[in-house]
Amino acid sequence: MQIFNQKEALIQFLQKEKKENKTIGLVPTMGALHKGHLSLVEKALNNNDIVVVSIFVNPTQFDNKTDLEKYPKTFEKDVETLKTASENIIVFAPTAANIYDDDISSETFDFDGLEFEMEGKFRTGHFDGVGTIVKKLFTIVEPDNAYFGEKDFQQLQIIRKMVEKSKLPVTIIGCPISREESGLAMSSRNERLDNEIRKEAAFIYKTISEAKEKFGTESALDTVNWIKSQFDLHPNFSLEYAEIADEKTLKPVKMKEKNKDYRLFVAVYANEIRLIDNIALN
Ligand code: PAF
Repeated sequence: MQIFNQKEALIQFLQKEKKENKTIGLVPTMGALHKGHLSLVEKALNNNDIVVVSIFVNPTQFDNKTDLEKYPKTFEKDVETLKTASENIIVFAPTAANIYDDDISSETFDFDGLEFEMEGKFRTGHFDGVGTIVKKLFTIVEPDNAYFGEKDFQQLQIIRKMVEKSKLPVTIIGCPISREESGLAMSSRNERLDNEIRKEAAFIYKTISEAKEKFGTESALDTVNWIKSQFDLHPNFSLEYAEIADEKTLKPVKMKEKNKDYRLFVAVYANEIRLIDNIALN
């Protein structure tokens, strides 16, 4: 397994590979890898000659300093996890100074309004930070394909928008949410949940799955109100938002229309740990 900490060395290495017409898949991560990440890596390994996994906890996408400080950092374990998938994976784990050229700040993007919905209302500057780092990674790695999980569905749509607007030559592949046996969406943040809460967090998926059924016969407003009432009754979870939105525009749905794809999104606090999840409704 080759590990690069400096973008210059990685660029040099990849240039040689590109001359041999090898295809490159990129899986951007912030580490604390779990089976969800591995499913992205497996997909990338199946479809590309070379797979680069970046491991970098990107400071500019955190609006909350404590969240950044507490974000799990498990680099050695992550490398061992990746080795179980393939010894040939290229790991890119830069320092902030190296990838940001000593200027750790975000570019400002216009994602045609996608950035103002849901997460955008609660995490100021988050998507500018994501756009900044993903664009940097695309510029360094120049991947043919890049893999992102649908758990962060808003992020996935925003990256697609950035690629479309900037005409970047990369194909974005969205990958289905991996879930724990209980149904809880896999996330690096789950590591911070105590065992009891982690078991109880099955409630989140159970509620959104039931809501999906309800949406078959009820309005978006009634379905969202029902979700709110379920969370109001639960002592350990507090709902930040529940929204049923158009998958393309991410705008909340008022009246259901035929031939549109809808998705339900929630953000939930379990003590101070923030979890997000979503489910396709069509
Ligand atoms: O989804 C993530 O882990 C991050 O937002 C990403 C895409 C790696 C950018 O830092």
